[in-house]
Amino acid sequence: MKTKFICTECGYRTSKWFGRCASCGAYGTLEEFSEKKEKKPIASANIKPVSEIIISDQIRIRTGEKSIDEVFGGGIVPGSLSLVAGAPGIGKSTMLLQIAKAVADKGKVIYFSAEESVGQVKLRAERLNINCKNLLISDASDTDYIVSIVESKKPVMAIVDSIQTVSSANISAVTGSVNQLRYSTDCFLEAAKKNNIPIVIVGHITKGGLIAGPKLLEHMVDAVLIMEEAGGYKVLRAVKNRFGAIDQTSIMQMGENGLRALERPEGIFLGKAIEAPGIARSLTIKGNQPLAVEIESLVSPYGIGKSTAIGFDTNRLIMLSAIIEKQLMMKILGHDLYLNVTGGVSIDETATDLAVCASIISSIQNKRINTNYVFIGEVGLAGEVRSTKSMERRIASAVRLGFTDIIMPDSELVSSANLHKIKFLNELPDYI
Ligand code: TYD
Ligand code: MG
Repeated sequence: MKTKFICTECGYRTSKWFGRCASCGAYGTLEEFSEKKEKKPIASANIKPVSEIIISDQIRIRTGEKSIDEVFGGGIVPGSLSLVAGAPGIGKSTMLLQIAKAVADKGKVIYFSAEESVGQVKLRAERLNINCKNLLISDASDTDYIVSIVESKKPVMAIVDSIQTVSSANISAVTGSVNQLRYSTDCFLEAAKKNNIPIVIVGHITKGGLIAGPKLLEHMVDAVLIMEEAGGYKVLRAVKNRFGAIDQTSIMQMGENGLRALERPEGIFLGKAIEAPGIARSLTIKGNQPLAVEIESLVSPYGIGKSTAIGFDTNRLIMLSAIIEKQLMMKILGHDLYLNVTGGVSIDETATDLAVCASIISSIQNKRINTNYVFIGEVGLAGEVRSTKSMERRIASAVRLGFTDIIMPDSELVSSANLHKIKFLNELPDYI
């Protein structure tokens, strides 16, 4: 079957046009695209015994910021094509200009700004105190022209800001359309590989939170880095990386003179230590970074039995409240339940279950939880409290943050803090 249409939201392919995408349900997102008719012959390729292939970490290009290097898997790999995606205004251009400056200390870097004029880029550069000869700014927006410049000038690195605003006359489709995006990405990929020059492209994410155009590009590029906002900070993480792990994050703060990475971000989402009913603290791990979070609950007896969660999976919340109801014989069914993870953090693991339960119980009993207590552990359907990955790192982080008492599953672990090891959920109310 020859696919002719592609959903710009989720990348779903179909031979027929529909008003609504059959995969993600978005309306009016299917765009026609043409499959490549001919395959270009491969000019040259490497074939070597595996024992003779040498890869050196030295050749990775440093971005000037250790945590960003880590997100790239230890620096940017020459010849790779990376996509930096994020909502408009989040700080992608700022970060890339800062990276461009750091790399320009070693050689020529070309920043292609199809989106903004060279004057606008200069203004940003002034704010960032960037004024170096090795950093070239171009407002070229023609893909083929950009490729020819990269091939002739052979920079150490090139940046294309953004992929949605460059286009080629070889493609009879408007700028930003699926065919243009695919064509340009293909050209940059080939230019990067052929010349061993890393190219970083910028992609915008739509309001819905999905990578619109870039979703389609995810398969084509070597690395996809997402920049998101959380509690006023910018979080950079990799969702795909052919050259490294995807468990690193860089947490940055936008200031008067650009972005600055936080050295010890683990405590940034902790509030002002308010001791109020419904608030419990936990330690989650985002990427590879332990982060202390505050979980707030409100159980309202006047409701209609609705559960709402921000930053936490609603189904898991319903499950945990059912476990509390059954194991502790507390009435939640029929009450409205609201749960919020402060700072805009979204939790995607089970280690905060115990804190979620503690916060719900604290709200029901209208009792405050000591702000020096932290709850770490997964809760099972039978009410059993279980360990999760990286318990030791979470405990170490809790100690660094000054928590005195850790309520956690039974284990061999020891710490300078008071460890309260519990096996079942019915022991939890003792700490509330
Ligand atoms: P920008 O990097 O242009 O975002 P993107 O490329 O993702 O669209 O900038 C984001 C915002 O950051 C913009 O509103 C201006 C602000 N900003 C600062 O606060 N400080 C600075 O030093 C710079 C350069 C920008
Ligand atoms: Mg920008």
